[in-house]
Amino acid sequence: MKPLIAPSLLSADFLNLETEIEMINNSEADWFHLDIMDGVFVPNISFGLPVVEAVKRKAKKPLDVHLMIVEPDRYIDAFRKAGADILSVQYEACTHLHRVLQSIRDGGMKSGVVLNPHTPVQLLANVLAYTDLVLIMSVNPGFGGQQFIPETYNKIAELKSMIKASGQSVLIEVDGGVNTVNAKQLVEAGADILVAGNAVFKTENPAQTIAKLKNIAF
Ligand code: DX5
Ligand code: ZN
Repeated sequence: MKPLIAPSLLSADFLNLETEIEMINNSEADWFHLDIMDGVFVPNISFGLPVVEAVKRKAKKPLDVHLMIVEPDRYIDAFRKAGADILSVQYEACTHLHRVLQSIRDGGMKSGVVLNPHTPVQLLANVLAYTDLVLIMSVNPGFGGQQFIPETYNKIAELKSMIKASGQSVLIEVDGGVNTVNAKQLVEAGADILVAGNAVFKTENPAQTIAKLKNIAF
């Protein structure tokens, strides 16, 4: 199976967001990845609800919203209204993860859990049935353009066998430092969805890079 490609708008040119969105609409990309940072959970602030809502008006593909915020349960409904199709919360920010995942699904969205690089995949054993995807951070969240952490390959493989053993259907997404050099090995390890920010938007021909990522393992 070819991986799904989710370009991260964090690395896009915000002054020309409409052009960037059209480029993704017309490319082989599958989803839009939107990074929401609150300056508390991560040491950076990105953009919020009005931007998500504006992207939704132009986007012809699902919005994959990655919340890097504390108390994400307070904003589930707001992001649903803004147009999120997939809503992912950080494991480390949720005291009541089980309830949060259920609320996301109750809102008609797909639910995701994100693991920081230090968080072991085994902690998800009791929530796989409530999760549509697990996003493995391959950098410490907060910024685009960071260097990929190589331990991620093993983590993906471990999670893949956990999911198989559980009998659930859960997709594995990887986010941070993903590029045309490491993408093949990530897909071979078991990644289903590749997020890429800098690797897409900081290249001369972003649509071509998206196509390269999409077809990398074949
Ligand atoms: C980082 C974000 C990523 C980021 C990836 O905290 O979650 O989605 O945009 O950017 P690159 O691909 O440049 O590492
Ligand atoms: Zn992200």
